[in-house]
Amino acid sequence: MNSQRKQKKIGILTAGGDCPGLNAAIRGVGKTAIVEYGMRVFGFNAGFLGLINNEYQELRESQLSGIITMGGTILGTSREKPYKLVKEDGSENDKPEKIIKNYHELGLDCVVCIGGNGTMQTANLLSQEGLNVIGIPKTIDNDVWGTDITFGFDSAVQIATDAIDRLHTTANSHQRVMIIEVMGHNAGWLALYSGLAGGGDIILLPEINFKIKSIIKNIEKRYARKKPYSIIVVAEGIKKPHNKSAASYIAKAIQSKTGIETRETVLGYIQRGGSPSSMDRILATHYGAFAAQCIAEGRFGTMVAIRNNEIETVPLNEVGGKLKLIESDFTLVQKARKMGVSFGD
Ligand code: F6P
Repeated sequence: MNSQRKQKKIGILTAGGDCPGLNAAIRGVGKTAIVEYGMRVFGFNAGFLGLINNEYQELRESQLSGIITMGGTILGTSREKPYKLVKEDGSENDKPEKIIKNYHELGLDCVVCIGGNGTMQTANLLSQEGLNVIGIPKTIDNDVWGTDITFGFDSAVQIATDAIDRLHTTANSHQRVMIIEVMGHNAGWLALYSGLAGGGDIILLPEINFKIKSIIKNIEKRYARKKPYSIIVVAEGIKKPHNKSAASYIAKAIQSKTGIETRETVLGYIQRGGSPSSMDRILATHYGAFAAQCIAEGRFGTMVAIRNNEIETVPLNEVGGKLKLIESDFTLVQKARKMGVSFGD
C-alpha cells in the first residue's frame, strides 16, 4: 500500500427546505471522513449557491462537535436549482459550468449533497457531468423515492402529534370540529403518521381524493353517536378549488353545511424547526457515517438509503425526478380504515 496516498478532499452541502437532523448528518459525514479516513472536509454555504459562488469553509473536527442537538443547518441552505434555465435576459445558464470549475479547482474528490427530491435530481445531473457525488435523503415530507425513511420526518411527526394532542382538549371542551393542517404538498406521510399518532378522526391526504359530502356525513354520524367533537388532520397539498389554505377550505365547508362550530390551525414552519428527535439523530448519523464510507469505497453516483431496515445505496439516476407517495393499499391506511378512521373518500 502507498503510505504517501493523497489526502482526499470532500465537500458537503445542505439544500432545499431545512429540517431537524441536518447537523447530525453533517457531523456524521465529517467526523467519519476526518477520524476514520483522514480526509479534509469543506462545507459549502447555502446549498448549491455555495458551489456556484465558491463560498465554503474547511470544517475541522472541533467545528463538528456540539452540533448534534441543533436544528437547522450550520451550513445554511437555499432552494437554488443550478440546472433550472435562467432565461429572463436570454443569457445562458452558466451555473453548472461554475460548479464543475469550482469543484476541480478546489481539488474535490466528492461532494455530498444532503437534501430532498430536488436536491437528488441536481445531484444526479452533476454526477452525469462527471463529478463524484453522493446524496443523503432528508425531508420532513418523507417523500424521497428509493428510501423507506428520510431524517427530519420523525421529529416533524412528533411536533405535529403534540399539536394534535393539544387540540383534543380544547375541541372536547367546546365540542367543536378542529382542523389541523400539516405540511406535505404531494405526499401525505406527515398527515397520515401524525394523524394516526394523534388519534385523528378524519385524515385528508393529497393521494386520496375526498368528498366534502363524505366528511360531513362522517362528522354527523359521530355527533349522532354522542361523540361531541372531531379532529381532522389535513395535508396542505390536498386538491381544492382555490389558493386558500386546505384547513380554511375544509373548515368553511363543514361549518356552513353542518352549523357545528369549526376552527382551523395551520401548523406551518414550527414543523421544521428545533432540535431533532433521537431517532432522527441516529438516522442522520447512520446516513452520514455510511456516506463517508461510500466515498472511501468509491461508490459514487449514489444516494444512501434504508430499505427493509438495511442501509444501502441506490443509483442517483433511479432516484432523480421521482416521488415516494402513499399507495391506496398502504397497510397503515387499510388498518386505519378498519378502526373507523375516515380518509374523506
Ligand atoms: O420540503 C419540505 C417542505 O416543508 C414542504 O412540506 C413544504 O410545503 C415546503 O417545504 C415549504 O417550504 P419553503 O416555504 O421553505 O419553500
